Amino acid sequence: MYKFVSFFGDRSPLFEELNEKARAYARTKGIDFVWVPQKPYDVEDVIAQLNDTDAAMIDVEPYDENIFGRMNDRCKLLVRFGVGFDKVNLPDATAHGLAIARTTGANKTGVAEMALMQMLAAGRQVMLNRKTVASGVWEKNIGTELIGKKVGILGFGNIGITLARLLQGFDCELVAYDTCPNEAAASALGVRFTDLEEIITTCDAISIHLPYNAETHHLFDAAVFDRMKSSAILVCTARGNIIDEDALYSALKEGRIAGAGLDVYAQEPLGADSPLIGLDNIVLTPHVASQTHESLWNTYKKGVDIVADFFAGSALERGDLLNPEYAGNPRQ
Ligand SMILES: NC(=O)c1ccc[n+]([C@@H]2O[C@H](COP(=O)([O-])OP(=O)(O)OC[C@H]3O[C@@H](n4cnc5c(N)ncnc54)[C@H](O)[C@@H]3O)[C@@H](O)[C@H]2O)c1
Repeated sequence: MYKFVSFFGDRSPLFEELNEKARAYARTKGIDFVWVPQKPYDVEDVIAQLNDTDAAMIDVEPYDENIFGRMNDRCKLLVRFGVGFDKVNLPDATAHGLAIARTTGANKTGVAEMALMQMLAAGRQVMLNRKTVASGVWEKNIGTELIGKKVGILGFGNIGITLARLLQGFDCELVAYDTCPNEAAASALGVRFTDLEEIITTCDAISIHLPYNAETHHLFDAAVFDRMKSSAILVCTARGNIIDEDALYSALKEGRIAGAGLDVYAQEPLGADSPLIGLDNIVLTPHVASQTHESLWNTYKKGVDIVADFFAGSALERGDLLNPEYAGNPRQ
């Protein structure tokens, strides 16, 4: 039986239950699923666990030479619980012959719903309206509707496509930007591909679903905010550093854009002293877009399926295996 250690989650009743379910599901696939939560994260324990397992499910902490260089040859596969892999050094893993996978698509509905919720909440000034209710002022802050507006989707992958599906009832003009455009999905959902510039300068709402890397670092900076419509709303559930937070703060404070929604930040957790917290025109959530009962379970299930397929020698789903070139290196 292959051993599969999961580092994800904390010792709350929800995760106790999910891990018990994952353990039972894994058993049906001939996998011994063992939960060793890392909250707080203990790198020495992580290395010890990795040296006593065949595969492991990892969270958002950095995985690079500092860990791979201290691993023995037993562990063959690390599965990212989720999609973003910006904290995993793929060349380092490849050099050690260690395969890195991710659970593509398993949390797409949770994240897409969060993006839509933030878009709607920012448009209807939910934060400001809540404040006026709580303060007893009972002031009515007028909102804008999403119906019929032009929405730009940056990154038309699993989550971007799911957001376009959710927006079908809103009669929006949907445009998307993606370096690897999925024409079939776009045409089925009435989405037109365009360039970044059209999205920045003409959209009423923009939702970011790109990976974070050198190319997308601070893609939204002061110069971009200056070119956006002053009525526009920007939502980011992807990764914090895609947006320059200082520039976003100024744009929101000075009314150069109307509102925003963020689930991810340059530094997580976001410091309690972040100026963003003092703004009424931004919806802030603590990196929980994928944290729904449904998406969490899909992710556990997919993680187990990936491990089962990997050790059975079956090909993983497209996009799941991040470094196919790992094969042939020392560990194999
Ligand atoms: N907040 C959360 O809890 C949460 C959960 C899941 C994923 N995410 C983030 O959302 C991102 C998107 O997730 P997904 O499942 O849709 O991923 P995905 O891989 O299915 O889609 C990403 C899309 O972006 C495109 N792309 C990549 N680089 C690009 C570039 N430089 N310019 C334009 N297009 C580019 C790809 O072609 C792909 O279509 C992830 O990278 C991750 O960082 C956040």
